[in-house]
Amino acid sequence: MNQENKGNSYFTNWLSVIGGIFSVIMFAVNLFLVIQDFITKEGNPYLGVITYFLAPALLILGLAMTVFGAIRERSRRIKRGHVRRFPQIDFNNPTHQKIAFTTIGVSTLFFLFTILGLFRSYEFTESTTFCGKLCHKVMAPEYTAYHHSPHANVTCVECHIGPGAEWYVRSKFAGAYQVYSVIANRFSKPIKTPIKHLRPAQETCEHCHWPRQFYGAVEQDHQYFLPDEKNTEWKMRMLMFVGGGMPPYGKKEGIHWHMNIKSKVYYVATDEKRQVIPWIKSIGPDGKEKIYVDKESGFSADNPPQGEMRRMDCMDCHNRPSHTFKAPSAAVNEAIACGAIDKTLPYIKREAVKALVVEYPSHDEAKVKIREQLETFYKTEHPDVWAEKKKNISEAVKTTIDIYKTNFFPQMNVTWKVYPDNIGHFIFPGCFRCHDNKHEAADGKALTNECTVCHNIIEQGPPDATETNANGLEFKHPDQDVGEDAWKEMSCYECHTGDLA
Ligand code: HEC
Ligand code: HEC
Ligand code: HEC
Ligand code: HEC
Ligand code: HEC
Ligand code: HEC
Repeated sequence: MNQENKGNSYFTNWLSVIGGIFSVIMFAVNLFLVIQDFITKEGNPYLGVITYFLAPALLILGLAMTVFGAIRERSRRIKRGHVRRFPQIDFNNPTHQKIAFTTIGVSTLFFLFTILGLFRSYEFTESTTFCGKLCHKVMAPEYTAYHHSPHANVTCVECHIGPGAEWYVRSKFAGAYQVYSVIANRFSKPIKTPIKHLRPAQETCEHCHWPRQFYGAVEQDHQYFLPDEKNTEWKMRMLMFVGGGMPPYGKKEGIHWHMNIKSKVYYVATDEKRQVIPWIKSIGPDGKEKIYVDKESGFSADNPPQGEMRRMDCMDCHNRPSHTFKAPSAAVNEAIACGAIDKTLPYIKREAVKALVVEYPSHDEAKVKIREQLETFYKTEHPDVWAEKKKNISEAVKTTIDIYKTNFFPQMNVTWKVYPDNIGHFIFPGCFRCHDNKHEAADGKALTNECTVCHNIIEQGPPDATETNANGLEFKHPDQDVGEDAWKEMSCYECHTGDLA
């Protein structure tokens, strides 16, 4: 028997020793990080990456070094003429027993630890922190808007990935490419929509909102302020007919008719953003098919445009359920309505919107310039107000800056204009992409834009003199100078762009 083999393990070589020491250190570090992660509630994305990717990878590297060193040592010894031999294990030998028990114990611990680690890494990659914060420059607009949305407590993956292994794997492949494009700086600013491979809404949104749930009407309250000296207020209450789900809960008409379990709407858009829709097919619950074509587009019922024929789902109307970048006019209206901007400051609606629509290179620059612009206006145009209401002006400035920070992201070129919101028809075509009285079926019936099909106005006017009628009122345009009937001849979005118009 060769003397050198005895008591002289293959692991006694510098590579294995370094690997071993390194593994022990990494194991300790990793254990510490995992415990730390369990204790702290709000995870730090970078620490998460270290805990669940980097540290385990280094630990595995250490272990691999140890094993590799031993293998190399063994083949070296064989080359030097040592006998090829496996270690002899004798369970009657107390030393061997001890070694065996220790090995089993340590391996089991390590195995459990690995499972826990794998589970936590899965959880971590599914967390809002991971999705929203890790590449925070890229995701800042969506992440910020998300926190101000009704879905602030729904995780990103519940809409973007949904349940099931297939989509998890798909999303991780897509994610790996995204990480690459961020590192290589090859992503587009702003991120392009519509997202091409978004999971169908039936498998995401409908987990929480199912079509049968839609019936009756919901009320919407609006407060508007005109861009005049008094910031003249105009109030409007309307009932949105959100029904359309399924009997027995009510009539089968209503906005969610498109989503009725049995009715289907298909369409072909001619632009990437799905804003121009010349061709539509609807299949009613009775199976009857109807094709609507934009008379002016040159297409016909049996000659649809080239391109994807898309079945309409939730996202075709609710394309911004969680990332709404508010138009300045709407955001300032809201701020005045809730008192965050003082309504008695002359021209504050106009001036705040004007300060917001300027292009600034960064949030920091915007902060300085917005303050400067608003203060200069009151100092020079209304010195009496400046002297009397400095505190209110300062609050208005602060709110305007907050509006900017939560809705404008110059680093990603994101503003409200970039992502058309399809839910209404006020500043984007939305419903009027189809409901414009121009899309006709074979029987000559057009998709209507009759104001009372989708909602009823039940109250409108200046707050001290509103008219009310539970059965519905004809719309009155808040700015009388525009012309009594201008809104009947043109669509709202043709004049209203979200800033001052
Ligand atoms: C309520 C569902 C929902 C949640 C929750 C949600 N998203 Fe989205 N997200 C969407 C929809 C719908 C779109 C738009 C898809 C389209 O137009 O093609 C979108 C679009 C995006 C886009 C593309 C750019 C854009 O602004 O349209 C990014 C990036 C994004 N989401 C990131 C996130 C992140 C990060 C989170 C979590 C912090 C998150 N989302 C949470 C539904 C959601
Ligand atoms: C995990 C559950 C969940 C998922 C998935 C989900 N939502 Fe929601 N949604 C909610 C909750 C909770 C609310 C808030 C309800 C409230 O405020 O009363 C909500 C509110 C809404 C509202 C009402 C917003 C408002 O202003 O009151 C709309 C519209 C909506 N969701 C659309 C969607 C769409 C579209 C999707 C898919 C892209 C989706 N949701 C996915 C849970 C979810
Ligand atoms: C034809 C466009 C359209 C489609 C398609 C659509 N919705 Fe809506 N939905 C609306 C409108 C319009 C409202 C009312 C206005 C609002 O809430 O902004 C509304 C309201 C809602 C509300 C809040 C109303 C309530 O009853 O409290 C939820 C939640 C909602 N939709 C979810 C969905 C989901 C989920 C889908 C897909 C199954 C869907 N919608 C499909 C247009 C649509
Ligand atoms: C892709 C085209 C398209 C878009 C976009 C669209 N609709 Fe429709 N809508 C249709 C079609 C098609 C019908 C069915 C007409 C028919 O055949 O009776 C319809 C029917 C309706 C009905 C009447 C249901 C009934 O029969 O009583 C309402 C209400 C409605 N839509 C509201 C909306 C609202 C609100 C929006 C925007 C949030 C919207 N639609 C966006 C295509 C569209
Ligand atoms: C096809 C359905 C449909 C038709 C037709 C329609 N509307 Fe609307 N309208 C909507 C929806 C949906 C919203 C809600 C958007 C939202 O929730 O933000 C809306 C919102 C509004 C608002 C509030 C705008 C805002 O965002 O502050 C006014 C005002 C309004 N509609 C007036 C009209 C008038 C006037 C007509 C007739 C010329 C009309 N609508 C026709 C679907 C319709
Ligand atoms: C011919 C152009 C034109 C058309 C069409 C038009 N508006 Fe206006 N509207 C204006 C102007 C100009 C103002 C005053 C400036 C401002 O506040 O935006 C105004 C003001 C308003 C305001 C109050 C200010 C605010 O907060 O935005 C509302 C609400 C409004 N319009 C709703 C509508 C609706 C709804 C429609 C479609 C049914 C419509 N307008 C169609 C030009 C138009």
